[in-house]
Amino acid sequence: MEDSLEDLLEQHGGDCGDEDQPSAPEAKFRSSRMNIQRSSVCSRAYFVVVMVFFHVYILNVIGLLLYVHYNNGPGELVSGDGAPSASVSDRGAALSHPDPAASDLHVEDYSQGLGLPRIEGIRVGHVQQVSLLPDRTHEMRTMSLKPLLFEIPGFLSEEECRVVVQLAQLKGLMESQTTTPSKEQEESNQPLLSLSTDEVFSLLDLNQDGLLQHEEIVSHSRSQDGTWLNPDNLRQILTGLEACPTGTLTLEDFRHVYDVSQRPGQQQSVKPRSQFKQRNKNTWLYQGPGSHHVLQSLRNRLISLTRLPSTLVELSEPLQVIRYENGDFSNAHHDSSPPQSETTCTHTRMAGNKSALTEVSCRYLTMLFYLSSVEEGGETTFPVADNRTYEEQALVQDGVDLTDTKETCGRGNIRMKPSVGTALLWYNHLSDGRGWMGELDEYSLHGECPVRRGVKWTANSWVNVDPDHQQQARYQRLVAKRQRAKSGMEEHYQPLSHSDLHQDL
Ligand SMILES: *[C@@H]1O[C@H](CO)[C@@H](O)[C@H](O)[C@H]1NC(C)=O
Ligand SMILES: *[C@@H]1O[C@H](CO)[C@@H](O)[C@H](O)[C@H]1NC(C)=O
Repeated sequence: MEDSLEDLLEQHGGDCGDEDQPSAPEAKFRSSRMNIQRSSVCSRAYFVVVMVFFHVYILNVIGLLLYVHYNNGPGELVSGDGAPSASVSDRGAALSHPDPAASDLHVEDYSQGLGLPRIEGIRVGHVQQVSLLPDRTHEMRTMSLKPLLFEIPGFLSEEECRVVVQLAQLKGLMESQTTTPSKEQEESNQPLLSLSTDEVFSLLDLNQDGLLQHEEIVSHSRSQDGTWLNPDNLRQILTGLEACPTGTLTLEDFRHVYDVSQRPGQQQSVKPRSQFKQRNKNTWLYQGPGSHHVLQSLRNRLISLTRLPSTLVELSEPLQVIRYENGDFSNAHHDSSPPQSETTCTHTRMAGNKSALTEVSCRYLTMLFYLSSVEEGGETTFPVADNRTYEEQALVQDGVDLTDTKETCGRGNIRMKPSVGTALLWYNHLSDGRGWMGELDEYSLHGECPVRRGVKWTANSWVNVDPDHQQQARYQRLVAKRQRAKSGMEEHYQPLSHSDLHQDL
């Protein structure tokens, strides 16, 4: 580069002709003074100045590139199995590395390293390679930035989809018919029937081995259809379990522990059943130790993909499997709730004495898995995804209600056609700017269009996070404490064999 500049210099020097060029570099300053006097642009000194600026500019660019490089960290992060994974902005440097294999709770790490990573969307249509399994990579496409929404085809194999559907069928599906709720009670399901003690036992026994393990009770406390179990019930059952020398409850033990008179169905005020918000059938599948390996693998893939602390994911709601038949749908809704002072998160209610407050779902992100393709209809619609503006009043306008998926499905900004094995991932919340969960992302509004032909199976995986970081940390400490108290009895809990579908539900 310098050579060519010299050439240029020589050339121009030649052009100027009559100048008596002193030999460089001693004469540079003299020459520059002469140039100023003559105000000539073709002198040697002029090019020296240009060259200096040019070099300073280049150094600046290099400096900037180095700055960007070291601030972003390595662009390609390494996933659990040692292969490059999606680029993720890890804000909390002290974030504990998510290790899918670890079953211990990293509560101490977590309370110090405050941080929830978010995958970068870059732009709509951007495709990034993600490594979730040792033997293949997946393509993840950015579908929208508001909300941050991704599509990952082939997240599950067709065989895995069949297994999950089968497990759900064996578990039994319950009718889910939510009434139109008031704003605060958006997610709370109406208890459909008053449950007998035996039925409550069966619902709690997620792996259906006839015994209640600590994990099952804790995990069920976080599921959304847990409204049939209030915090008092829950504490009562956990206390009973801890008093039990085996660390598990049989149905017989459970009958002594569970106080039928406290059944919550009778305590809840009756809400008007004016209009069904959704029609489908669903069930919950436990994904922790002892569950089917496909369910555990699904959770590990979620951890690899999102790079969230594994503790957070392990303490989240079980997998919800939903079946939509002809005409079944769900209206557009948000999966999570805005942080408000008068509400508390369902999943951390164990850790607080706020049972008087309204409980809401706190779900940082949603992963939706299509377990089947649908012949016609059944799209997932995001009515306001990447809309220029969002106004709640604009959702219902001129007699058109964009949340009424039954009527206005075709008007959604984004509609995803169910395709077996495909996963969708979106963030329900924005960042609070300090690496924790912030405001609800209003644009994450979504619903399921009515199925026209065929049967649609989907599964939802939510990652629960309390917007109140202190409350989340308190909850995790509480769970870890109970876990430690129980670990002396660990040998009594034998994880079930994975070989038989019928056993390891
Ligand atoms: C319960 O509430 C009181 C008053 O709001 C508070 O001082 C106390 O720390 C709370 N206890 C727990 C365990 O959160
Ligand atoms: C979507 O954006 C358009 C254009 O800015 C606006 O007129 C409309 O009200 C928006 N829709 C919603 C639901 O906010």
